[in-house]
Amino acid sequence: PVVARGYHENVIAHYENPKNVGSLPKGDMDVGTGLVGAPACGDVMKLQIRVNEDGIISDVKFKTFGCGSAIASSSYMTERVMGMSLEEAGKIKNTEIAKELCLPPVKLHCSMLAEDAIRSAIRDYQKKRKNMANPKQKG
Ligand code: FES
Ligand code: FES
Repeated sequence: PVVARGYHENVIAHYENPKNVGSLPKGDMDVGTGLVGAPACGDVMKLQIRVNEDGIISDVKFKTFGCGSAIASSSYMTERVMGMSLEEAGKIKNTEIAKELCLPPVKLHCSMLAEDAIRSAIRDYQKKRKNMANPKQKG
């Protein structure tokens, strides 16, 4: 059926032509970096967000050292969170990614990496802002 074929092409596109591969400057105060690993296989995913003054994700990049499903999951995640608030982005579930990409059960943990990575990036960003608001005294 046409719908299934369109869906399939969408998945293939993420595998063959992942979106938003790269890095953002880790030290920037408006950048949050998430770095997570999958205990099941040792694959690693880095996902970074840039947040504008309205609290909206205005840029996002990833680097994934892992299997095709992990790369497709991170590519999908970057497209999904662009333009979202942190709250919205933090609610994206790996089950949504797995469904969208038709991941088999054995590959569920690959999509879990993407969920962990975005949450970790959000936490990193929030920690930075908090430290900025309450700078630690030195000396
Ligand atoms: Fe081989 Fe993930 S287990 S790439
Ligand atoms: Fe481990 Fe995909 S992330 S096999």
